[in-house]
Amino acid sequence: MLTIRPAVRDDGPEVARMYVDAWNAGFGDLMPTAVLDDGRVARWSETLAGGNWWVAELDGTIAGFVGIGPSRDPIDPELGELDTITVDVPYWRQGVGTALIHKATEELSAQYDEAILWTLANYPQAQNFYTKNGWTLTTTTRDHGHQVSYRRTFRSSTPRAHTR
Ligand SMILES: CC(C)(COP(=O)(O)OP(=O)(O)OC[C@H]1O[C@@H](n2cnc3c(N)ncnc32)[C@H](O)[C@@H]1OP(=O)(O)O)[C@@H](O)C(=O)NCCC(=O)NCCS
Repeated sequence: MLTIRPAVRDDGPEVARMYVDAWNAGFGDLMPTAVLDDGRVARWSETLAGGNWWVAELDGTIAGFVGIGPSRDPIDPELGELDTITVDVPYWRQGVGTALIHKATEELSAQYDEAILWTLANYPQAQNFYTKNGWTLTTTTRDHGHQVSYRRTFRSSTPRAHTR
């Protein structure tokens, strides 16, 4: 059974391990190879302890994780960001990512009017995944076009005119 629970500091080693594995298997030649080391584990443990991160468990085994926060680049405390979503490689294409992004989107919509996420250009695995889950590709890019952004609007920030 798939369940989603808040992440805790002790999830750091497993989260760091699956992040590195999924990065290398997913991005391939699009990005430099990521390496698992103590520093990475420590950074993930610290990040998870800060809240707004969740893990998906399949029968008690962590199969993926997701986190949200305010937009980092550009810095905008009013704009939510889907920070990182990762599914452990053996569980790809089994709906774990969909369950995680539903949780993240629900939490983003509770905290922000609008949210952004960034992924790589020419990376159908994530681009199809985000489109299928209701996010819209924008024309805003970073890193000389290597990164593309998607947005999701939850509610208009324009106050409604009062009518009688
Ligand atoms: C992207 C990722 C989170 C998707 O997780 P997942 O659990 O495999 O996704 P799901 O099983 O919920 O897939 C939902 C839909 O996404 C799309 N999708 C997922 N993987 C895909 C792939 N390899 N190629 C094309 N479309 C894909 C499909 O439309 C899929 O629906 P379908 O299986 O019915 O066709 C996962 O592949 C991953 O962790 N990748 C490595 C890290 C990464 O790329 N993170 C995001 C980068 S910003």
